[in-house]
Amino acid sequence: MYDYRLNGRTINVSDKELEIQKDFIKKIKKLNDDFEKENSRKKTMFISTFGCQMNAHDSEKIEGMLGEMGFVRADEEKNADFIIYNTCCVRENAENKVYGNLGYLKHAKETNPFMKIALCGCMMQEENVVETIRKKYRHVDIVFGTFNLYKLPELIYTNIETSSPVFDIWKEHKEIVEDLPSIRKYKFKASVNIMFGCDNFCSYCIVPYVRGRERSRRSYDILNEVKNLAKDGVKEITLLGQNVNSYGKSLDEDINFAKLLRMVNEIEGIERIRFMTSHPKDLSDELILAMAECEKVCGHIHLPFQAGSNRILEKMNRKYTKEKYIEIVSKIKEKVPDVAVTTDIIVGFPGETKEDVEETIDVIEKVRFNGAFTFIYSKRTGTPAAVMENQVSEKDAKIQFNRVLDALNPIVYEKNKEHLGKVYKVLAESVSGNDESFITGRLEDNSIVHFKAEKNVIGNIIDVEIIDCKTFYLTGKIISGLR
Ligand code: SAH
Ligand code: SF4
Ligand code: F3S
Repeated sequence: MYDYRLNGRTINVSDKELEIQKDFIKKIKKLNDDFEKENSRKKTMFISTFGCQMNAHDSEKIEGMLGEMGFVRADEEKNADFIIYNTCCVRENAENKVYGNLGYLKHAKETNPFMKIALCGCMMQEENVVETIRKKYRHVDIVFGTFNLYKLPELIYTNIETSSPVFDIWKEHKEIVEDLPSIRKYKFKASVNIMFGCDNFCSYCIVPYVRGRERSRRSYDILNEVKNLAKDGVKEITLLGQNVNSYGKSLDEDINFAKLLRMVNEIEGIERIRFMTSHPKDLSDELILAMAECEKVCGHIHLPFQAGSNRILEKMNRKYTKEKYIEIVSKIKEKVPDVAVTTDIIVGFPGETKEDVEETIDVIEKVRFNGAFTFIYSKRTGTPAAVMENQVSEKDAKIQFNRVLDALNPIVYEKNKEHLGKVYKVLAESVSGNDESFITGRLEDNSIVHFKAEKNVIGNIIDVEIIDCKTFYLTGKIISGLR
């Protein structure tokens, strides 16, 4: 990023880029307004998001930009004029879904002459994927990657002007563009990127190849964004990064993640602060202390351990041992009372034996997690693990995976039961999926609770008593009303 002077004002390149894109937004808006006059309807959009919270957050920016261009949400994908898939490639099944959907869209496009299809996100950073799209999915109009999301208006306009497919994939990051328009899914909670990319190169993981080198946003920009969100009524903030614990390393400011947390904690209007993901190797005592002392920081940490065997951890390039991991968790539990610890686990990494999985189960039993995402190892071309010897067969991985689940689920259930009979502050988030008379919310420790209440509690933090529990959720009854 560099600064230059324009009309007496200092502008950084990001500002300039933003202005360029806003011009394209205006041009497309004009075309969409003309379309509305001719067809007595607005152009519609449909966004599908795969993968992690990073992608979910990027999709809010995509929706923000499309919204400013005059697109409105379609009720169903097949009726939309602009369809975009924000893709993930962390595991093979996420990729297969995209190909499957694209096949189906070919027919849908034949019946809607206005339909445009765009693909973006992590999968598009893989050369073989883009080749496949070019050759086999010719009905796709726009393809871009993870480094040039902010160019979407320009890409759409180029596609309209040239009437031919636009492929724009960058190999690496160029600049961070601040202040993109965004339409948030919730009014009362929001995610904020604090960093992009990842430098850890865990041997199984494709993220560093598709999201590029680690780079942190300036604290000034982050704090500004959070302040603006607070002014807008946001109560809960989630600070996002692949490895938030190394925040600040790429900056020339005197800052780290613990300091950033303390700064965000000072922002008026924000009531809850969450963050993800933490890598155990960079988790400092300073961060544990900040978690303990900042009253708005939620008592929850998502701390993936991936595997329990030290031999496997080394082959995974995780840079900690099983003993170190358990020690870190004990420290957190000691300093942050009632903290909930959740994790990610991979089963079936190359060379992982039944005995290695015993070590994973041992960590589960010692730490007693409040929750875990469990994955069967998925081979990702281009990563070191993909060419390691002794790849585990699907059948064997599945057997070990079930053993892990059998150890994990009863513990998660037991941990959940600890909530019974107690009253917690709950952020009411949405109408429950199963029963319209129930509201779904989250405790500070991130547990999900369903309780009977009116819709107007949504967006408020209320007192809820926990009256029943299952493995993955709680049931409660409302104790206090709105505040
Ligand atoms: N940056 C985060 C995780 C990002 S990916 C971290 O390091 O904690 C989310 C999870 O997907 C990882 O924690 C890991 O458990 C899982 N994952 C990543 N690559 C995988 C692969 N090739 N196969 C199976 N699971 C994988
Ligand atoms: Fe992947 Fe490891 Fe980076 Fe997480 S820390 S994104 S698992 S390389
Ligand atoms: Fe997937 Fe990309 Fe996230 S690969 S998990 S969407 S960073």
